[in-house]
Amino acid sequence: MTSTRLALRGDLLDFCAAPAWAQTEDAAVRFRPDHWLLVEGGRIVGAQREDPGPDWPREDHRGRLVMPGFIDTHVHCPQLDVIASYGTELLDWLNTYTFPAERRYADPAVADLGAQRFLDALLAHGTTAAVVFPTVHKVSAEALFDAAAARGMRLITGKVLMDRHAPDGLRDDVEQARRDCEDLIARHHGRERLAYAVTVRFAPTSTPEQLAMAGALCRADASLFMQTHVAENRGECAWVARLFPDARSYLDVYDRVGLLHPRAVLAHGIWLDDEDRRVLRERGAQIAHCPSSNLFLGSGLFDWKGTDEAGVGLSVASDVGGGTSLSLQRTLADGYKVQALAGQRLTAWAGLHAATRGAALALGLDRELGHLSPGTLADLCVWDWACGPVAQARHEVARELHEKVFAWMTLADERNLAACFVAGQARYRRP
Ligand code: GUN
Ligand code: ZN
Repeated sequence: MTSTRLALRGDLLDFCAAPAWAQTEDAAVRFRPDHWLLVEGGRIVGAQREDPGPDWPREDHRGRLVMPGFIDTHVHCPQLDVIASYGTELLDWLNTYTFPAERRYADPAVADLGAQRFLDALLAHGTTAAVVFPTVHKVSAEALFDAAAARGMRLITGKVLMDRHAPDGLRDDVEQARRDCEDLIARHHGRERLAYAVTVRFAPTSTPEQLAMAGALCRADASLFMQTHVAENRGECAWVARLFPDARSYLDVYDRVGLLHPRAVLAHGIWLDDEDRRVLRERGAQIAHCPSSNLFLGSGLFDWKGTDEAGVGLSVASDVGGGTSLSLQRTLADGYKVQALAGQRLTAWAGLHAATRGAALALGLDRELGHLSPGTLADLCVWDWACGPVAQARHEVARELHEKVFAWMTLADERNLAACFVAGQARYRRP
């Protein structure tokens, strides 16, 4: 059994509850400096200050931070190719850059290579689990499932549904889409750490008939996830109001067909009202907040505190290629700035919780991942506290824990990542 064991030494940081808003000292934070984290058979089995002894193969990362792997709850695989594209808001950005890039994923060779490159990039940024948009093509979802299984990753994805308002080569139809979804669900949902998400791109690119089909899939199997976009951009919201004049709101378009449930992940949610937030809470559906994307595409400032106080599940997400980095530290640094513009203060605790345990909780996966408790799978990252002289100097003058971790969240990125483990297996090491 010794060969399946691993003892990792470092400063262990995770959360055992949800941190309170704007509180820099919080009992929800579990910081265990210079501890050994014990992993056996891919799972965390304990943590201790004492050396575990000669029966434990070891990695000594003394002076580094050990955290649960990040969970990116909204990111687009084919959009790595259009990250950092100039000069547009959402609807023009989709037509000018995104749709042409996604069309290439009809080719299985492009889809396979793209999926592998994408998941390796996630791992190299410290993201060990993700909720991912592929493209409308069945092969693009298939490629992601296979590449994630090969890496042992928790991955939630599903072929994108879009049967209108999209160019040739990027539209499906209701019947073929239903057959493709059913086949993908039968072959991948529940296989290893994979799960299927009924994936509605957004309300404008699905006919009412396709939305009804998507809702029927969710109703037929409560273990399925659902992912989509909602209320991101004002022009988009106005378009949805014209396309669905009977709906009370953008969110209501999804609610009417049964797409809102505890496994529903809706990206953005900037332009929601109190009634929408009440509906989200009642259905148990959650928001993936994408601050980097919201700033880059000029979409708007998300109300994190209001959404949290309304009791809606919340996580953070890169939304690459609308977002400009796969790094969830960079995403959180943008998240802090978005809140600062609204006169609010995002603590490192609230930010990092949303990228780990909070995301796992919202997805119903907190028994599997998101924290360093015994029994969870060992999805772990080992981070340098500081990278480069500026961050090093800042780290050295920081006096208390929140100050240190906040500076790390704000200054760190993928360059700080020393190693990344998925279910106890090293999947990335800094060259
Ligand atoms: N809304 C519909 N599709 C997209 C997309 O690909 N990215 C973002 N940010 N919003 C969307
Ligand atoms: Zn998106």
